Amino acid sequence: MTRLLSDVAEAAALLAAGELVAFPTETVYGLGADARNGRAVAAVFAAKGRPQFNPLICHVATAEAAFEEVVADERARALAARFWPGPLTLVLPRRASCRVDLLAGAGLDTLAIRVPAHPLALDLLRAVGGPVAAPSANRSGGVSPTEAAHALAELGGRIAAVLDGGRCAVGVESTVLDLSSRGAALLRPGGVPVEAIEATIGPVGRPLPLSAGEATQHLRSPGMLLSHYAPSLPVRLDATEVGPEEALLAFGQRPLPGAGAMWNLSPSADLVEAAQRLFAGLRWLDAQGRRLGLARIAAMPVPDGGLGAAINDRLSRAAAPRG
Ligand code: TXA
Ligand code: MG
Repeated sequence: MTRLLSDVAEAAALLAAGELVAFPTETVYGLGADARNGRAVAAVFAAKGRPQFNPLICHVATAEAAFEEVVADERARALAARFWPGPLTLVLPRRASCRVDLLAGAGLDTLAIRVPAHPLALDLLRAVGGPVAAPSANRSGGVSPTEAAHALAELGGRIAAVLDGGRCAVGVESTVLDLSSRGAALLRPGGVPVEAIEATIGPVGRPLPLSAGEATQHLRSPGMLLSHYAPSLPVRLDATEVGPEEALLAFGQRPLPGAGAMWNLSPSADLVEAAQRLFAGLRWLDAQGRRLGLARIAAMPVPDGGLGAAINDRLSRAAAPRG
C-alpha cells in the first residue's frame, strides 16, 4: 500500500531507507529516490516502467550542494544565482567525487541537477542531506502529476508513499539546459523561459527533437523523445473548430463551441495559469472523454513565447505518433 504523507520527516526516513517517495516540487510531483543508492535508483526505473535508462534529474537544497557534485563554470554560477531555487535544470560535468550513483545519470559523465522552489521539497532535501533523484511521478510516457492524487493514481501500489504538498504552482517541468560544452543548449523548454536564460548568459542553441530511434542512438538527450506526456486518447493540435465527439483543451476568451467536453487552460489567456492547468486538464479531459466515449482531445493553439514554448512542447509530444 502506498501511504499519503504530510510529514516531511517520515518521507525523509523512507528515502534514507532506500524506499521511493513521490514529493511535490513547484513544477510537477517527482518520484524521489536517494540518488546515492543504486538499488533505489534502479527501482525508480522499474516503478515508472521506463523502457530504457534515461538519465534522471538530481535535486539538492542549495547551489553549494549542487556544485559539490558537478563542476560549475561562470555561466552556471550566474544562472544558479538568478534562477535557483526554481524550475531550471543544469547539465554539467560530474566531479570525480560526485556521490550520485552512475545509473541515475545513465552512465553519462554529465549530471542534470536543480534546486527546486517548493518549501516541502526543500525541507525534504535538507532532511535527507544528500541528492535526491526524481523524474516526474508518472508511468513512462504518461501525463505528469501536478497534485498528490495524480501521483497516487499513477504509482499507487508501486511506491512507499506520496508526500502531499497541494497543487504545483508552475505546472510544467523545469527547463533543461546543457552547459557541459562551450555552447549552451536547450534540451527541454520548461518553467524558466529560454528568453530569460539568454538575458543572463547570451544565446542558447535549440537542438531539434528526436524520434524514439534517434534518441536511442544519441543518449545525450534521451528526454527529447517525440512521444511523451500522452493521455490515452489521441490528441489533435491547432484546432480551429471542434465536434461533439471531441474533448476540447481551450485557451482564451473564446473557447470553440460544440465540443463534447471542455477544459479552458486560461479564460484570460494567461500563459502562467495555462501552464499550471495543462497536465490537470489533459488528465481531466482524458477521463471525461473515455467516460463519454469521445474520439480524441482537440487542443486550441497557444501562443509560443515565454511559458508558451514549454506548453507547446508538451502538447506536440502528447500529439506525436506513439510507440
Ligand atoms: O521539473 C522537473 O524537472 C521534474 C521535477 C520532478 O523536478 N523532474 C523531471 O525529471 O522532469 P526527469 O528525470 O523526468 O527529466 C529528466 C530530463 C530528461 O529530458 C532527460 O533526458 C534530461 O533531463 N537529462 C537528465 N540527465 C541528463 C544528462 N546528463 N544529459 C542530458 N539530459 C539529461
Ligand atoms: Mg517526465
